[in-house]
Amino acid sequence: MFRELQEINRKPDVFSVYTADQLWTDFHLAKQMLQTHLNQETPMASRPTPAIDRVVAWMDRKFGLADKALCDLGCGPGLYAERFARLGATVCGLDFSSNSIEYARQSAVEHKTKVDYKVANYLIDPLPSEQDIVTLIYCDFCPLSPQQRKLLLGKIRENLKPDGVLVFDVASTKSFENFSEHSSFAPNYMDGFWSGNEYFTFHQRHRYEDEKVSLDHYTIVEELRTWSVYNWLQYFTAESIDAELSANGFKMVELVNGFGVEENDEATFAVIAKRRL
Ligand SMILES: C[S@@+](CC[C@H](N)C(=O)[O-])C[C@H]1O[C@@H](n2cnc3c(N)ncnc32)[C@H](O)[C@@H]1O
Repeated sequence: MFRELQEINRKPDVFSVYTADQLWTDFHLAKQMLQTHLNQETPMASRPTPAIDRVVAWMDRKFGLADKALCDLGCGPGLYAERFARLGATVCGLDFSSNSIEYARQSAVEHKTKVDYKVANYLIDPLPSEQDIVTLIYCDFCPLSPQQRKLLLGKIRENLKPDGVLVFDVASTKSFENFSEHSSFAPNYMDGFWSGNEYFTFHQRHRYEDEKVSLDHYTIVEELRTWSVYNWLQYFTAESIDAELSANGFKMVELVNGFGVEENDEATFAVIAKRRL
């Protein structure tokens, strides 16, 4: 047990393991994550409805969504994609959680809205081409390693029209300041979130000062298996995201505090970027 506890407590190399696919597509977790998306009480997976409405209205004022080809990467249950489509955009919503896409498709049918939803991994599968707008909303850029971000920016760049825009939000280094290291153990941690079976969870929180990255490492111990989820988060300054975009063929055209929604939000900021021609 001592060796196992040592291993659980070990600080892994930054971005050395990727488990986001498991978090979003595991049968039990995908259902939990969908509930979390729709839950108005917790901002864990998405913004509450009034904030989503404000972001969509802001996007419409900014870009005029009618007749635009828009691809929403990591669209989840389609909370933004469906609203973009109602404002006249031709929308493709892409997500690797089939559970969330199933919900999104049903909702579009119920609301008589046309959205082309695809179950796909944006790091692997082709993206729709000739897009006016590509969105990646709720800091989904930040759990990716530098190599994955490079790959994704390259794919987005290839599929944007020359004057198309990439709109995404990121966690700011202000919120990194509030992230503290921590270690805990609990039975049935987060009330059945991690498994339908009886389980125990170790939760380790690590800071990577130089890289401005945090890790929430969960080790879930069930009777028949022990497994881990690694939730990485890269925090950005205006300068660091600008540099990363530049290195990958983009230029930042605007930085928007609080995504035009919460002006005093210092935890995240949105970025509008265009292809560097
Ligand atoms: C934090 S949620 C945000 C969902 C949505 N953008 C929103 O704000 O309501 C992240 C979403 O991205 C999806 N996702 C994460 N990595 C992905 C990948 N590599 N390919 C496709 N979808 C991905 C997850 O399944 C999840 O639905």
